[in-house]
Amino acid sequence: MKKLLVAALLVAFAATPALAVEDTYSYTGKGTVTFNHKVHGEKLGCEACHEGEPAKIEVTDKATGHAACLDCHKEKKAEGAPTKCGACHVK
Ligand code: HEC
Ligand code: HEC
Ligand code: HEC
Repeated sequence: MKKLLVAALLVAFAATPALAVEDTYSYTGKGTVTFNHKVHGEKLGCEACHEGEPAKIEVTDKATGHAACLDCHKEKKAEGAPTKCGACHVK
């Protein structure tokens, strides 16, 4: 029984893609935007942002940044998601 469990864990571990996921990401452009990936994941679940197998999401400019961040914040304003520019863009 124990051996089976260990084998199952090894299989699960081996199947996990070796992606380097950071706890936080930061973007510079209009000041610096800090994204706490870990906290967002814990609170919202991965599928809130990733469809299927989680993969890299490009955040490079205003269009991609606001699509990845601001759209949801507007939807979830009542849940405390900040929409003021300065909440994300810190000088
Ligand atoms: C609020 C949105 C959001 C949630 C929730 C979220 N992610 Fe992400 N995730 C992102 C964004 C944005 C990136 C791209 C970060 C970057 O590289 O700039 C990303 C990147 C990743 C990557 C790719 C890392 C790389 O550089 O290759 C993986 C893997 C990942 N997330 C897994 C997860 C898992 C697992 C969860 C749930 C525990 C999760 N994510 C929850 C937004 C989210
Ligand atoms: C799917 C919805 C969703 C997406 C996508 C999302 N957020 Fe959030 N975010 C929230 C919610 C809900 C909160 C408030 C929850 C809380 O802190 O209790 C929040 C809180 C925050 C906060 C304030 C709390 C803190 O961590 O300092 C910042 C800053 C923030 N988000 C930045 C970002 C950035 C940057 C991105 C894009 C890379 C992003 N968020 C994407 C839902 C989202
Ligand atoms: C929920 C987080 C969030 C909020 C709130 C937000 N932004 Fe952004 N914004 C981003 C992200 C992420 C990027 C992409 C990274 C970057 O370019 O700095 C971005 C990019 C931009 C850019 C392009 C900067 C550059 O040089 O690439 C401008 C301009 C901008 N935002 C203006 C605003 C204004 C004005 C507001 C308020 C009305 C606002 N943003 C609110 C997250 C946010």
